[in-house]
Amino acid sequence: MNRIVAPSLLAADFAELGSAVRMINESDAGWMHLDVMDGVFVPNISFGLPIISAVKKIAKKPLDVHLMIVNPDRYISDFKKAGADILTVHYEACTHLHRTVQQIKSEGLKAGVALNPHTPVDVLEDILDEIDLVCMMSVNPGFGGQKFIPHVLAKISKLNETLKRKSLSVYIQADGGVDLTNYKSVVDAGANVLVAGNTVFSSQNPKQVIATLAH
Ligand code: DX5
Ligand code: ZN
Repeated sequence: MNRIVAPSLLAADFAELGSAVRMINESDAGWMHLDVMDGVFVPNISFGLPIISAVKKIAKKPLDVHLMIVNPDRYISDFKKAGADILTVHYEACTHLHRTVQQIKSEGLKAGVALNPHTPVDVLEDILDEIDLVCMMSVNPGFGGQKFIPHVLAKISKLNETLKRKSLSVYIQADGGVDLTNYKSVVDAGANVLVAGNTVFSSQNPKQVIATLAH
């Protein structure tokens, strides 16, 4: 699997969202990452369906939508209509995860499951062959610009080994605190999708940062 960089629009200037999307379009990014927060599952509120629809109108890359919300099942078809290509739900927010994953796939979307930093990777053992992506949270979800939690590297390696043992092709996404100082260790551990918010958008040359992360 080639490495994919997914810049997180949470770190963009929302007053200039169109130019952020166009920058990503012209960059080496593979996907764009959209963080939906409900103020219940996480202690922050970000944006929702109307913003995703607006981004979709001009996006030339797949939309990787990360739902940090309770009861995501209620909104799966809405996110499909808004333009999501990959839809990730949190393990911790889904009592009937298998059903939720089936619902996402029945909409024709790629299904991702995110794990909070404290959640062991083993909990996904019996659903790995049903999903397309595991989003390994390397910060506690809710905010951009936090510090990478190094323990997550061991979780990424463990998941990578499990996937190899089972001969499964599932994206391993690292989300939170990925920057130019740590991305190599994240990739070495086995991640093949790098989400990067602040590292990209606080740079004077975001496209260059994306290119560095991608190669
Ligand atoms: C955190 C979000 C992340 C965040 C990443 O809750 O899920 O996607 O936007 O931003 P940085 O790279 O700034 O940690
Ligand atoms: Zn995210």
